[in-house]
Amino acid sequence: MERSLARGLWSAKDLSTASRSPIETDLIKSCPINFFFLEIPMRIQHLSALEILDSRGFPTVEVTIIADGVTARASVPSGKSTGKHEALELRDRDMGRFKGKGVLKAVGSVEGEIAAGLVGRELPSQEDLDHSLIQLDGTPGKTRLGANAILGVSMAVARLRAQLEGRSLFESLGGAEATLLPVPCFNVLNGGAHADNPLVFQEFMIVPAGRPTFAEALRAGAETYHALAGILKKAGLSVSVGDEGGFAPQITFPEEAMDLMVKAIEAAGYEPGRDVFIALDPAASGFYEGGQYRFGGEAHDAKGMTERYGRWLDRYPLISIEDGLAEDDDAGWVYWTKALGHRMQIVGDDNFVSDPRRVGAAIPKGIANAVLLKPNQIGTVTEITETARTAQRAGYRCMVSHRSGETQDDFIADLAVALGVGQIKSGAPARGERVAKYNQLLRIERQLGPKARFAGRAAFESR
Ligand code: PGA
Ligand code: ZN
Repeated sequence: MERSLARGLWSAKDLSTASRSPIETDLIKSCPINFFFLEIPMRIQHLSALEILDSRGFPTVEVTIIADGVTARASVPSGKSTGKHEALELRDRDMGRFKGKGVLKAVGSVEGEIAAGLVGRELPSQEDLDHSLIQLDGTPGKTRLGANAILGVSMAVARLRAQLEGRSLFESLGGAEATLLPVPCFNVLNGGAHADNPLVFQEFMIVPAGRPTFAEALRAGAETYHALAGILKKAGLSVSVGDEGGFAPQITFPEEAMDLMVKAIEAAGYEPGRDVFIALDPAASGFYEGGQYRFGGEAHDAKGMTERYGRWLDRYPLISIEDGLAEDDDAGWVYWTKALGHRMQIVGDDNFVSDPRRVGAAIPKGIANAVLLKPNQIGTVTEITETARTAQRAGYRCMVSHRSGETQDDFIADLAVALGVGQIKSGAPARGERVAKYNQLLRIERQLGPKARFAGRAAFESR
């Protein structure tokens, strides 16, 4: 049962926690006895949801929760190149609205059954909340209430608790040990399902892991992004962008994309392979057919793809590939991991779908050495935390991730610091919904001051 912190005294003065002054906060923190920690239960006064738009102009769920006069809000992202085993994003399928993509049913889940179980009750712990949401839904894929409804509530409650505690979200979720700033992976060239160009590989990321701080890494990312724009324009290529804010020029082969990136890193004044590296997400399920990976008029099996990736390790400052093979090609993943896992980070996304059970089952088979963490693939804060811990215990690395359809919600920035994973991808260093996360990490770095540690190159090394 969650109890209020320092609310008894302040509520007498009708002060909300959010409006507490720094002096009051210091007083509470420095108080040697629990004089201020009066045990007043916090009751949830209000829970509602709204159908808002995401960055692609399609509906998504925003949840609002109020307790003790404090309001918290969270909104849910939406993927396009989704893994087949992801928890269900509940959509209305009413073709008369938003091409069937309305989320009024998910809004109804929040305002109906979920609100009935929460409003008027004491604020539960995160674990109790998430377990009761899972139970209330009662299906393995959260198909009844919708993972979008459930995640919105889970995130909103986490944020509300932090506000009531007078702490930042990353501190509330991660405690005093949450001081590691992640290396940002900037998706600067978009292809696949996220763009209309002939480039079949989905994401080409620049990774300034060799810079000393998060702020310097962000700067290197933005400067390289702008240098890349200049190079594309000079070559007569388009600088229009894809869903994640990266450029989407008319190129076909991944090698062309990586050649452009190396040039851009150098043009921005950084050294490829020392300051700035490259990471890819081919999203290979999207071009896997009949046991073959098909792109640019070529076809390869898993062994052929692994050989190609091996050649790229020699030629490019490449440190990480996510979904380089298809979600169901287990034998291929085992082969790839065995052949190249000691030389690179191999990240599972569509095959793991952030599910602790799927990650737990893949580890003994030797599939991948890192896990992508997308909260909406699994549906609660507690489960995404469990996935991270399952991976980390086995020496697997983790990367926290946005989705291609996003909102201004910056929850994943705090989550990355709270989980101490050392890596995040949130698209290009441009477009409001992408930079919302990077800018929040700047604030966290500032707040942590000398305690802030930048994960750097070590975040990608095998443990
Ligand atoms: P999605 O793609 O958000 O469109 O599913 C992101 C990814 O594959 O990592
Ligand atoms: Zn992916």
